[in-house]
Amino acid sequence: MASCEVRWPTLSHRLGVRMVRLSSRLSSIGTGFAKYFQKPPEDVIRLTIGEPDLDTPKAISEAAIAALRDGQTHYSRSLGLERTTRAVSTYLSRGGLEVEPDDIMITNGAKQALFSAMLAIGDPGQSMIIPSPAWASYNPQLKACGLHPIHVPLDQMLHLDIPSIEAAIDETTAAIIVNSPNNPTGSVYTTEELTSLVEVAIEHDLWLISDEIYAPMVWLDDRNHIPIASLPGAKNRTVTIGGWSKGWAMTGWRLGWITGPSSLIDHVSVVQANTVTHPPTFLQIGAAVALEDETLVEEIVTPFRERRSLVLKRLQAMPNIVVPELEGAFYAFIDIRPTGLSDLEFVERLLSEARVQTIPGSLMPFGEGWVRLSYTASTKDLIEGLDRMESWLHKLDST
Ligand SMILES: Cc1ncc(COP(=O)(O)O)c(C=O)c1O
Repeated sequence: MASCEVRWPTLSHRLGVRMVRLSSRLSSIGTGFAKYFQKPPEDVIRLTIGEPDLDTPKAISEAAIAALRDGQTHYSRSLGLERTTRAVSTYLSRGGLEVEPDDIMITNGAKQALFSAMLAIGDPGQSMIIPSPAWASYNPQLKACGLHPIHVPLDQMLHLDIPSIEAAIDETTAAIIVNSPNNPTGSVYTTEELTSLVEVAIEHDLWLISDEIYAPMVWLDDRNHIPIASLPGAKNRTVTIGGWSKGWAMTGWRLGWITGPSSLIDHVSVVQANTVTHPPTFLQIGAAVALEDETLVEEIVTPFRERRSLVLKRLQAMPNIVVPELEGAFYAFIDIRPTGLSDLEFVERLLSEARVQTIPGSLMPFGEGWVRLSYTASTKDLIEGLDRMESWLHKLDST
């Protein structure tokens, strides 16, 4: 132990050095966000959080409650209940991706699925490419696996810059992490750009980790969600991740899924069996019902489609900001550079002067000059927040 700098006074307080180092390293990565995710005072309109304000559709909760009452409180398979993996398989097939139920594992949220994918694919010292700005948890998860995140900027339209991605590939690259619909940009990648990405992955023999957690939330009439694994040549090199948190407003249920080549699922299910075993059995019944009844997702998606139209129309009428098309998920990523403020100043002043809370893009690599606004508040609060933001921007414009 001579080389370890972390020491504890007594044995009863001693933690493993690896854990202490890991937790301090990971907590320092996310610290910038903490203050923006804190619950603000009552008078502030909060447009920061990435979870629907709506409750889980009743039929889903009732199914889980009935399963609990019915005694579905026992261990199931480490892959998850057969009914639930079958429901995921059928759901994915409706979206154009054919996967055997036994190649699907139910996880504790998409987050755990992502972590499992990173562990399964990368070896310490390798790297993964992240088109950025990107969801902030990829970085700490990669670091926890001993992998290096390589951030590559998106293009001006907040879409994939394929030549830059290809240029960033080197001998350490194990995978490219793709997230469409995207947090924080709201972009939905086209078939053409995803096809080009798959070609790059094939050319350089890389994995693709496709985070499709926002799949039900695509707002454009001429674009559908494209599961990357459904594209030619992609299936045997793509790990697809999804879940119930966003589309079915089930964030607190902590349920997601991972699917990919059988050999990969065989390995990650052994790890799951020996760590968390599986997510709670009775919750998986609710999750199966969510997918079996195709109408339930509309209870969440329909109000979000309406909010998205409202938010887009209102933001586009505001001075000195540029608002790209809101293509999917529930985020507006706004170019605030025409205001002359930095994104940090913009967010601080919008909060203190107009009482509206948003997230500065510069907390994420290549997000400088942009601000993320989540339209996860009620329509009433959204209207109030947008009213305040509009008059604040007009005032700013006239000073
Ligand atoms: C891009 C992205 N992936 C994954 C997740 C995590 O989803 P889950 O709640 O299923 O763990 C989030 C949550 O904010 C997200 O934005």
